[in-house]
Parts: sequence; structure tokens; C-alpha cells
Amino acid sequence: MNTHQKMLEVANQALRQAVEQLRFDPHKPALHAHAPANWLNDPNGLVYFNGEYHLFYQHNPFAPEHWGSGRIHWGHMKSKDLVHWEHLPIALAPSEDYDRDGCFSGGAAVQDGKLYLFYTSNIFTVPPGLPDDLLQQQCVAVSEDGIHFEKSELNPLIKHPPAGIGQDNHFRDPNVFFHDGTWYMLVGNRLGDNGKILLYRSDDLLRWEYVKVFGESSGDMGYMWECPDFFSLNGKDVLAFSPQGIGWPDQPNISGYYLGRLDYETLNFSHGEFYKLDHGFDFYAPQSFTDGKGRRILFGWMRMPRNAEKQWAGSMTLPRELRVTGNRLTIHPVEELTLLRQQQITVSDVRLRQDNRTTYPGIKGTCIELLCTFDLTNTDAAEFGLELRSSLDGDQKTVVTYSKEHNTITLDRNQSGDYVSGTRVLEMQRRAEKLELHIFLDTCMMEMFINYGEYVMSGWLFPDPGNEEIAFFSRGGSTTIKSVDCWGL
Ligand code: FRU
Repeated sequence: MNTHQKMLEVANQALRQAVEQLRFDPHKPALHAHAPANWLNDPNGLVYFNGEYHLFYQHNPFAPEHWGSGRIHWGHMKSKDLVHWEHLPIALAPSEDYDRDGCFSGGAAVQDGKLYLFYTSNIFTVPPGLPDDLLQQQCVAVSEDGIHFEKSELNPLIKHPPAGIGQDNHFRDPNVFFHDGTWYMLVGNRLGDNGKILLYRSDDLLRWEYVKVFGESSGDMGYMWECPDFFSLNGKDVLAFSPQGIGWPDQPNISGYYLGRLDYETLNFSHGEFYKLDHGFDFYAPQSFTDGKGRRILFGWMRMPRNAEKQWAGSMTLPRELRVTGNRLTIHPVEELTLLRQQQITVSDVRLRQDNRTTYPGIKGTCIELLCTFDLTNTDAAEFGLELRSSLDGDQKTVVTYSKEHNTITLDRNQSGDYVSGTRVLEMQRRAEKLELHIFLDTCMMEMFINYGEYVMSGWLFPDPGNEEIAFFSRGGSTTIKSVDCWGL
């Protein structure tokens, strides 16, 4: 057994023990892919391999926290349908001198039937307790069966960004794609206060040549660009990434994308403006991949509030299908999620009176899918919306409010229970005749797809477990609800 295999045994054993010691927690997601116990962050190495979906993730099997040093592994699960997941042994452990302080994020590639996982090896170059200083390099591990991975003897494959171009202490998250006989790799990086992404090229996935700066901030797009994710869809090219420092005061790191065109002659990527991938709370570091049906599917990390002390931390989002509509991506819950549907209750064509708070029999729950369509042409309310996971007296609730005047949606979790607070306001660009809210609640997680995928707002909620009311309200006029479908999940 080599060092890597030994460390994997220790990690898997620790995780088994952590699972045995798990206490019942009504907040733990029931439907979302997440670690069996302890810490999870970014999705990694997403790939459709030999007819199955593989999801790797940043994982500390020893504790429900990231910790500074030596603990970040790659957890692993797989699925046949994107909704039922089977946990597999941990895939990567920080076993070597060059990755002793963590196997950080990266992506997958398949060549000649083998699965390559590219990751960032992390070394802390100053003693614990001092401000972080790191050496980050790009590495690979290869597998034939998709379960057991061997680290390459050529690691680290990329040791430093070119001098004067980027810093070697923030140089991470390799993303590999293939075009016309050549492999390309994007790596997140920074120089001073400007985030950037570097482009490399290879013929064999092992020897990489630096090409150019693929994208960078010029002062206003964040100080570090993490987790690049490049793909082509419907004739457009998309660069998704996670810039640090440009979000909200309570969440400075956000994720979004540029849509444009990569000229493979010059390797220039020209693009339009930056759009967020999620307008709610907690969403970060997404990654996407193409599946056997040609769909582009994205998972993001739902970062849990730090004060939520639990024996587990973090979850993936639900799988989301990306589509190109005009110059934007639209984001949809994958159709396989309908496999989870149980009993259905429908209400249609009702008018909500001014200042009424209304509930409908059977439309409630803690694990539900809710599809609501409001008729805006027949609504004179100034604002309307719904309360999720509400207590009977309405003291605890998560409030979604549409303002007709401003064409905004506000997600308010100031009364959502423990650990969370704050509001997010989404300014919608287009005025439509209908407003569609497609909401998934999974114990303490909510994801809301707005107007057929134009926007998504997600977040953690920690209400008392018994609070499961859904109430509708209308203010300053009445509102027409075309339909509400509610499925137990
Ligand atoms: C994003 C990130 C990555 C890094 C990983 C470490 O959340 O900071 O840039 O590789 O997490 O766990």
C-alpha cells in the first residue's frame, strides 16, 4: 500500500466513524447531494463517465470545518439519475509533500477510457497562525475504474504561473476542456488586486504549456478569480467563474459568467457583461459538465453559515440545467427531479384580496416542490408574494415579495430561524405578463427558479422543524394566481 492509499484508509475510517456518531438533525437536507458527515465545499471533477454521473467535492472527513491545513480531500459520489446518490470511498487525500496541506478544487477529463482528475496541490509556506501564505500548483490523478486514483509521478504538472503575470500563492482550480485535438486548461489566479484566469495547452494532458491571460479584472471585477469553468453551448462560449470581493457585504465572493465567443486561432475570448448565476444567499464555486444527453448541468456549493454548528456542513445545490437564450443563460431544475414527486395538490385561478394572508389546504411542507404562476395582467396589487416555512402565527417565515412597481423580487430571511438573516433584492430586466416561481424546499434549503429559468435565488433557512405553512399575500390591491402546484418530495 502506498502513502496515498494509507491516508485514504484513515480518512474513510474517520468518515465512517463520523457517520456512526451522527445525531438526528431535522435540518439536514434530505434530497440534496452532500457529504455523509463533516465538511463539504466546492463541487469538483464533475463528469459523466461510463454511463454514470460522478460528483467529487472538497471534503474534510475529520471535522465539519475547512481547517487551514492538511485536511481537504476529494469526497466522491455517483448517480445514475442525478437525484439518487451513492457515496463512494474518498478519492484523493493530501498524501504527498507537494499536496500535504490539501487537495484543492479542480476538474475532470476523460481520455482513452481513463478518468483524469486535475486538482490544486496546496502547501502552507508559513507556520499555522500567521497570515496564510501558500504554494499552489496544478496536479493530476488518474483512474481506470473511476473509483481508485493514482497520482502522477509528473506532479506537480504546473509549478508556477509565469513571473510577472500571476502570483504562485493564489493559483488554483484547474478546468480542462478539449477542442479540435488540443487540451486546454484554465487556472484561477491573481496579481495584486486583480483576479485573472490563465490559459494553458497540452497534447497529452500531462505536459502543459502556458499560452496567455484568458481573462482578468481591471480593478472592478474582484481581486481573485476562483473556479473557472469554460464550455460551449448552442454555438456560444461561456466562462463561468467565482470572483472574490465584488458581492454583498455579507457575501463578498460570488459566482457568475461571461457569454461570448472564443476564437481558437487567436485564443481571444470576447464577451459581454458579467451575470450572476444565483441572486440569493450562500451559492458559490459552481462547476458544470456535459452529460450523455448533451445537456450542460451545473452544481454549486451552498455554503452554510459559520455559526450553524452541526456535525455536517455544506451541500450541493440541486442539479441545474443550463441553456442559452439570446445572450444569457437560463437555469432550470433538471427534469429528473420530477422522479421525486409524490402527491400533488393544485389550486387554480384564485384571486387574492388586498391585505389577505391566505393558505390553501394541503399546500405546505418542509420537503416540497411548489410551482406558482401569477397573472400580472390581472393584478393591481402594489406587491404580492408568499411566506415559506411559516409558523402558524406567521412569526417565523421566509418571505418572497414581488413588487409590481419596481419589478423586483425580494427574498427576506430575517425571520427564517436560526443562524441566517438579511435580504436580497433581484431587479428583473424584463417585464412579463406572468410571474413564475418554481420553488424547491428541502428541510433547510430553498432554491427558487424565476420565470422559466431567467433567475435563481437560493439560500439556507433554519426554521423550527414543525413550521411548514405556505401563505400567500397581496398588498395595495388584489392579485390573480393562475395556478399553484405543490408536490411532496
Ligand atoms: C473555492 C475555493 C477554491 C479552492 C477551494 C479550497 O471555494 O476557495 O478556490 O480550491 O475552495 O477548498
